[in-house]
Amino acid sequence: MSDSAWGQIEAYIKEIENTECSDNDALEQFRIRFLGSKNILKSLFGEIKNIENDRKKEYGQKVNELKALAESKYSSCKSDLQSSEREGAKSSMDFSLPSAPFQQGSRHPVSIVMNRIIDIFEKIGFVVSEEREIEDDWHNFTAMNTPEDHPARDMQDTFYLKNSVTNLLRTHTSSVQSRVMTSQQPPIRIIAPGRVYRNETISARSHCQFHQVEGLFIDKDVSFADMKQTLLYFAREMYGPDTKIRLRPSYFPFTEPSAEMDVYWGLKDEIDYRITKGTGWLEILGCGMVDPNVLINCNIDPEVYTGFAFGMGIERQAMLKYNISDIRLLFENDVRFLKQFSSVI
Ligand code: DAH
Repeated sequence: MSDSAWGQIEAYIKEIENTECSDNDALEQFRIRFLGSKNILKSLFGEIKNIENDRKKEYGQKVNELKALAESKYSSCKSDLQSSEREGAKSSMDFSLPSAPFQQGSRHPVSIVMNRIIDIFEKIGFVVSEEREIEDDWHNFTAMNTPEDHPARDMQDTFYLKNSVTNLLRTHTSSVQSRVMTSQQPPIRIIAPGRVYRNETISARSHCQFHQVEGLFIDKDVSFADMKQTLLYFAREMYGPDTKIRLRPSYFPFTEPSAEMDVYWGLKDEIDYRITKGTGWLEILGCGMVDPNVLINCNIDPEVYTGFAFGMGIERQAMLKYNISDIRLLFENDVRFLKQFSSVI
């Protein structure tokens, strides 16, 4: 019996070496025969009791080697089969089929308009300055010549942060003016785009969050005429070379004198009558000469320097440009709305 056990081992070694697993069924048959729970090697291990004592060790090693051989054959056959399956899948690909549709993203209309405004001012030397949305009372109001008891604070309903009387969500990008003026001396020529917040009831025409672009120019001998020329250049770049503007006197605490700028929109159709309230003129920004008090608050000498500032809302301009009738659409992120802007950059 023991002689036949030695012979059997040799026979199995040959069988394993000659095995070629041509498919998954053959591989599974091999596994069951040599490695399954009732595999044929088990009976060889059982034979060990019939082996002469001085050869038991050698026999045991031989059977273990046989088992290791079966295992390595199994795993190499398996990986051969898997890679030939992959090859097969490749060759059955049809390269002439159209590709799966690719969903291309698009810029948000507010970003499109904001980037356009930034481009226009960068061309004449303004530098983008971005600042925090959580501001303190001083930079948002006090430094901007709007002390605590000032009635102008009522113009902008403010979100204060919980448990804080000084920290708030900035109500306008004018807060960037005080940040910049307290950290650098003139000449200053910045443009500050960003999001602002006001505690307002949400409707088709107003929202509690929106975007503004602020401009600030301070140097020696800056005049109201410089401001007017800069804003005329902007209006013509933005709305076309024949655009007309007008400056109406207005009031802002941080500028003196202050103005609002209108562009002539025209009265071509009914909609023009509605959006311009029958005048043909459309207000797009607030502006003015920086109030000397603001310069003093920010440690800039008003005897040496003068400057102008302006601030404009973005949503309204995006709504006019793209004929959007409800501001809420700009904040809902509905792809059906947003993808309409995919062809504009
Ligand atoms: N901060 C003003 C607002 O939010 C807009 C504004 C008006 C900004 C006049 C200015 C300015 O810089 O000079 O209503």
